[in-house]
Amino acid sequence: MGTFITLEGPDGSGKTTQAHLLVGWLRERGLPVVQTREPGGSDIGDQIRGILHDSANAGMMARTEFLLYSASRAQHVEELILPALEENQIVISDRYADSSIAYQGYGRGLDLETIMSVTDFATQGVEPDLTLYFDIAAGEGLQRRLLSGEAWNRMDAEALAFHQRVRRGYRELAQAAPSRWLVIDANRPVEDVQRDVRGAVDQRLKADGRYAAV
Ligand code: TYD
Repeated sequence: MGTFITLEGPDGSGKTTQAHLLVGWLRERGLPVVQTREPGGSDIGDQIRGILHDSANAGMMARTEFLLYSASRAQHVEELILPALEENQIVISDRYADSSIAYQGYGRGLDLETIMSVTDFATQGVEPDLTLYFDIAAGEGLQRRLLSGEAWNRMDAEALAFHQRVRRGYRELAQAAPSRWLVIDANRPVEDVQRDVRGAVDQRLKADGRYAAV
C-alpha cells in the first residue's frame, strides 16, 4: 500500500499553497505522487463541487450538504485514491473526511456518530496515514481569504461563530488521535510552515520504508 496524506484546516489557512510546495518537493526527489482535493478529485466529484460551492444554493440543508460531500468522497476514493494507494503511490489530498466532521459535524451540528458511520461507508474505511492540520484563528483565516481576492464560496460566507466551531472540531480531532495528526501553526511565513510540513512527511515516509526503494 502507498501512503495517504491529507491537509486540513480552516479556509484561508494556506494549506493549498503548502500542498503545492510539498508535492513539488516530493516529485523532485523522484517519489510517485498523486495530488488531489476535496470536494472534487474526479469528474463526478467536480460536478458535485459545483453544486456545493454555488452561492445560489443558499437553501441547501445541512443533511443534503453532508451527503453531497460524502457522495463526492465515495467517488474520489474508489476512482482515484484506492487505485493509487494500491499502486504504492503517495496520495496528497487537500481536504478529506475530517473536513466533514469539522464543518458538517461541529460547524453545522449534525450528529457526529452518524457522520462517522456514513463516512466509513463512503470511504470504505480508507483513513489517512498522516493528517497535517493548519491551525489559524478563524477571523484571521477569513481575513486572508478576503485579501487574496479569491472567490468566496458558500462556506466562507458563514458567520464567524461557525468557523470557530470548525476550528474547535479540528483541534479536538487532532487531540484525540495524535499519532495521525500534526497541528501546525499556520500563522507564520510560508517557508517556516513548509519546513514543518516536510519534516513530518519525511518522518512518515521513512517509517513506511519509502526511501529504501528510491
Ligand atoms: P475550497 O474552495 O476547496 O476551499 P479551501 O481552499 O478552503 O479548501 O472549498 C472547500 C469548502 O468546502 C471549504 O469551505 C470547506 C468545505 N468542506 C466541507 O464543508 N465539508 C467537506 O467535507 C469538505 C471536503 C469541504
